[in-house]
Formats: sequence, C-alpha cells, structure tokens
Amino acid sequence: MIYPKNIIEFVKNDPELKERFNGIAAITSLNAMSSPQMHDAFSFEEYMLNEGHTQSRAIRKYLHFIASTYSIFNEIFQYFPKENLNSTHKDDVSAIGTAPFELIYHAMYLYCLDSWGVEGDVIECGTYKGFSACCLSWVCDYLGRRLIVADSFEGLPANSTDPYYKKGDFCGQIDEVRANIEDFGKIEQVDFLKGFYNTSLQGFDRSLCMLWMDVDLYESTMDILTNLLPHLATDGVIISHELFADRDFTDDGLLKDTIGPSKAMSVFFAEQGITYQAIPLENGSGLVVPCKADEKILMSCDHVRFLRDRCRQSDAVLMQQQAKLERDIGHWQHEVEKLMEIYRSTVDFKIKQAAKNILAKLGLYRKQTDV
Ligand SMILES: C[S@@+](CC[C@H](N)C(=O)[O-])C[C@H]1O[C@@H](n2cnc3c(N)ncnc32)[C@H](O)[C@@H]1O
Repeated sequence: MIYPKNIIEFVKNDPELKERFNGIAAITSLNAMSSPQMHDAFSFEEYMLNEGHTQSRAIRKYLHFIASTYSIFNEIFQYFPKENLNSTHKDDVSAIGTAPFELIYHAMYLYCLDSWGVEGDVIECGTYKGFSACCLSWVCDYLGRRLIVADSFEGLPANSTDPYYKKGDFCGQIDEVRANIEDFGKIEQVDFLKGFYNTSLQGFDRSLCMLWMDVDLYESTMDILTNLLPHLATDGVIISHELFADRDFTDDGLLKDTIGPSKAMSVFFAEQGITYQAIPLENGSGLVVPCKADEKILMSCDHVRFLRDRCRQSDAVLMQQQAKLERDIGHWQHEVEKLMEIYRSTVDFKIKQAAKNILAKLGLYRKQTDV
C-alpha cells in the first residue's frame, strides 16, 4: 500500500514498530517496487486508527485528511446539481460523472505524492459539469497545488472509434462549470484550459504530478498522452476513467488493446517503449504508473477502501478509544479479582500484606469484611 513518507519514517524510527510492521518499514518508494513485501491484512491500518494517531502527528494528520476530505466530497455530491437539462446521451442524464468514493483515491494519492516531494500541478482532462473538479480543487487547496481543468466545454468531439459516443455528449459550458466550482469547490485554486485537446494542449509547459483523465475516447486519450506525458514528473501518476477491471487489465498489470482510453494507453506505451503497471481502482477508474518492467504497484484498493470507510464514520477514532478503554477496564476487573483471591487464600503473611496494601489503595479493603 502507498503511505505518506513521514508515516513510514515514523515506523522506521521506532524499533518496536519497525519490527511489528516490517513490511511498512521496508517501503523505499512511493509508487512501485520490484518485490514489495505484502503486509498482513489491515494490521497497520488498524494500528493507525486505534493507537497510531495518539502517537504520531503524521498519522493524526493523514487520518484527519482522509476523514475530512471524504466528508467534503460527500457533501459536494449531496448539493451538486444532479440533472443535465441538455442531455444528449443516456449516460449524461445525470450531471455527475464520477463518485466521492472513487475520487478519494485521487485525494489519498495526491497527499502521498506531496509527502514524497513529487512536484507539479494536477490536471483534470474531462470536466463535464465540474463535479470531480470541485472535489479535487479542495485537495489542491489543502496541498497548495494548482488544478488545471482542461475541457472543450462543448462536450465530446466527433470520433471514429467508438459509436457509443457522439459529438456534444457530456457538455458542460464554461460558465456553468465555473459557477459550480465557485459554489462547491475552491475556484481560486483552478486554472481553466478551454479547447479540444488536439489544439489546446499543444505547447503545454507545466510540470504535473497527476494526470487525471475522464474523456471516454481513444482519440482524446491519444492527444492527451502525446502532449502531457512528457510533463509528468518522475514518480507522477495517471488515473483514468473508463478502465474496467473485467475488460481492460491483463494479469501482468498491463492494459489491453480493447477500446477507448485502455486501447489508447496500451498502443501509446508500446509505441513509445514506456514500461508501466496498471491496476483497476473503483467505479471504472484505473491507476497507471510508469515504472520499471519488473516493478509492482504498491497501491492497494482494499487498503484504501478500509481506511476510507473507517474514517467515514466521523467518530471512528472515538469509538476505537472507547472500545480500548472497555477492554482495559475488563482486564483490570479480572486482575483485581485475582488479587482478592490471593489475599483470601494465601497463608504467607508478607504476600497477604502486599495484596492488602494494593486493595486498600484501590479503596477495596474493608476491615470489617476482610475485603
Ligand atoms: C465523462 S465527462 C467528464 C465527467 C467529469 N469528470 C465528472 O466528474 O462529472 C467527459 C468530458 O471530457 C471532455 N472531452 C472529451 N474529449 C475531449 C477533447 N478531445 N477535448 C476536450 N474535451 C474533451 C468532454 O467535453 C466532457 O466534458
């Protein structure tokens, strides 16, 4: 799993934690390693939620980030306009094309990229009415990064590879998108880049830590990769929509030459001789990490899901603390009963006296009843 660098350092610097979570202490890279140690289930996540946050500022801050970000995403979802009044496609009847539980992957990844010192802006290609842009603008604001929002703001272009989509589908006009980001996001963090990618991305000259694409089409993905991939920072990552777990991924972590973004990436990376690994995330999104051929992606959906859902209960941490205290109380009750039994049964005067002293301190020794 990926973790913020300062959390890994915290584990490495504590001999007991280093031994207990040796898989975490062995992580030397953000994205991918040639033979990552698999750590058992969610033991480190449990540790962070139960104890770690009381011991480490880095853990506290990360859990708070996940909980508050996910909560904001859900509130945006709650109030964002839901209906596309100019729908042209059965899939654009809704004005929202992504989901909070899906975008938390981007948020956690960006937090980790930031902690590992990966420089650069975030770009969203494919904005529609601006739902995902609203969510990501909060994350960029938190991390102090710019969010570039690149779209035709006229919907999809005509295409010759996928008859499912046609020109003008998923249209969000720029004024409408700007208003949505003003209402639900952090507009001051956002730069707009208007136009179809075959022209608007030419001459792009900013450095990127994350390339997030939600563009549906083979041609659009090709235009984006051609113009933007050279600007992706070392250790920067790609997340793309329309990458389906059961359709687009090989068992070796590559993308298949199927249709749309998956086909475009598989063709582009092969042509350019770029090695990479890809895994499905949730809701039809996938993560693509340029890396060495023998490396494996560290990101784990199960771990994201676990943390996301546990942090979602806003009082999760309090509930954990409560449960621990209840366990502690049970333990001490048992110990006190053992002590009383020792006091009653021992014939050794010194032991009886020592037990009596402790019971007296606890207010449990009463002369008349002899305990
Ligand atoms: C599925 S929608 C994006 C949904 C959005 N991310 C959300 O959360 O609701 C696809 C978007 O990609 C844009 N798009 C696709 N291909 C494009 C291209 N070649 N140039 C510019 N915009 C493009 C469309 O205009 C549309 O806004």
